Amino acid sequence: MNICFATNNAKKLLEIRQLLEPAYRVKSLEEIGCREELPETGSTLEANSLQKAQYVWDHYGIACFADDTGLEIEALGGEPGVYSARYAGPERDNEANIALVLQKLEGQPNRKARFRTLITWIDVHGYRQFEGKVEGEILEQKSGEKGFGYDPVFRPEGRECSFAEMSMEEKNAISHRGRALKKLTDFLREAAN
Ligand code: IMP
Repeated sequence: MNICFATNNAKKLLEIRQLLEPAYRVKSLEEIGCREELPETGSTLEANSLQKAQYVWDHYGIACFADDTGLEIEALGGEPGVYSARYAGPERDNEANIALVLQKLEGQPNRKARFRTLITWIDVHGYRQFEGKVEGEILEQKSGEKGFGYDPVFRPEGRECSFAEMSMEEKNAISHRGRALKKLTDFLREAAN
């Protein structure tokens, strides 16, 4: 069965293809001919991932799923949340985003944070959402070179190092996205039987 993952991120596609093929052939946005920017105007992760999945379903008629992720920092009232990619400005600059977070948390003893991913699956039967979370804290300074985004300043609970110091396998096993994907793949594998 052909399905679409509403992304053009090669790393994300590789990861999901390994989990779902051969039962599902996972196409990227480009592969279904969708070259326009998907709408993402919601104020929650739930709304944004649904908006993206719904757009693909409405315009291309292919069963699909979309993800949306945010870093939620307790002392900042859940910021940057849905604005994680553009926290320091429209350039989506990871370094600037991290610098802004560290600046806002200066002198703040409560460093609690979580990553949260929402995945929306949509097909002829309607839509379903799957959530994955990982709790942790924001470090005082960057540590590690791996990963992307806020990884160098996020230490998951129960670990001694940041996400940016872990291998991809180690991170995926406990990460927000890994956990949401596991729920989605369990659901799809069951549906394929
Ligand atoms: P997206 O919804 O997957 O595009 O994620 C939005 C933003 O959240 C990204 O641009 C990153 O800044 C941040 N982000 C998402 N996932 C991760 C992660 O696993 N580690 C660090 N930052 C992440």
